[in-house]
Amino acid sequence: MSFPPPGRDFYGRLPFDPMVPPPKPARVREVTGGTRKNRAATEKARKYQREEVVELARRRHLLDVDDLEGEEMEHILETARSFSEVMRRPIKKVPSLRGKTVVNLFYEPSTRTRLSFEVAAKRLSADVLNFTASTSSVEKGESLKDTALTLRAMGVDAVIVRHPAAGAPWLLRRWLDVCVINAGDGMHAHPTQALLDLFTMRERLGGLEGRTIAYVGDILHSRVARSGFKACLAMGMRVIAVAPPTLLPSFVPPGVEVQHDLDEVLPRCDVLYILRIQKERQTEGRFPSLQEYVSLYQLNMERLGKARPGVLVMHPGPMNRGVEIASEVADAPHAAITSQVAAGVAVRMAVLFLLLGSGEGGV
Ligand code: NCD
Repeated sequence: MSFPPPGRDFYGRLPFDPMVPPPKPARVREVTGGTRKNRAATEKARKYQREEVVELARRRHLLDVDDLEGEEMEHILETARSFSEVMRRPIKKVPSLRGKTVVNLFYEPSTRTRLSFEVAAKRLSADVLNFTASTSSVEKGESLKDTALTLRAMGVDAVIVRHPAAGAPWLLRRWLDVCVINAGDGMHAHPTQALLDLFTMRERLGGLEGRTIAYVGDILHSRVARSGFKACLAMGMRVIAVAPPTLLPSFVPPGVEVQHDLDEVLPRCDVLYILRIQKERQTEGRFPSLQEYVSLYQLNMERLGKARPGVLVMHPGPMNRGVEIASEVADAPHAAITSQVAAGVAVRMAVLFLLLGSGEGGV
């Protein structure tokens, strides 16, 4: 008999198929006990299990925002709000993920995303392992699969992965039976960034429905924009992609308006979302000169003056001050860039908490 059996992988599992719906709901753990003394707590836990934990815990992975239905996105944002309250307490730690181990598996440089996942996991009392490709056996030629199997053998509960290859988190999901969270794969997706951006906009603008956001700059290479488009459209926002034709992908989702003239777009927007020129992903020159790009697309004080008075300026970081955004704009009261970083911790706490499915400890 051949091994692996026909149609199965090395572990006897069926091949990966992105169209396969998420697994059946995880068994809901029955809450027992209920003496007079803890009846209220028991009832609270039951209510929580019925209404909240079940949806996300059954999913186990967060690979892109279209994995999430509208209500789930809403629920993550609501949970993040509770965690942002925790972050204002003098003691910022809750025991929710005590005994769980989370690994940050980063094959690309990162400051904000890696640190905020680490802070988020630690504030939930999880143990955190940090894997950085440049200081690991990857340098000796180890494959993603062998690294993944090593982590599985160590019994980690969640893998947070950033990888230069689009699709890498989907491969991990196939190889691992633990929670996988996409922290950015190539030019493809960055779901937690999209969620934290929604959270920031909602906190600063109130409702999102009917609001207009323009993503400005290097959309072609931006996983932030790709996930952001989907998330904003799902929330009923109007989305404009503003870039020179050479920095736009050949496909933008239906519902996204494409524009090349930033000055024309400015007065229509509630949010200006500025993107970095991703030189590390560019194989050829996409515009004649940096000076020309700056003159047409940099968000400077003069352009900010043409925008709506209360416009929100966002940037996922890292910023190249003086290129896509003028330094004074990055420091202006319109800028929500540090709010985005704070939201990143709260949203990632919510995602970890909901995906790892522990209702213990509470917020
Ligand atoms: C972005 C990324 O890595 O995709 N940054 C981030 O996650 N905060 C955007 C970028 O690198 O420009």
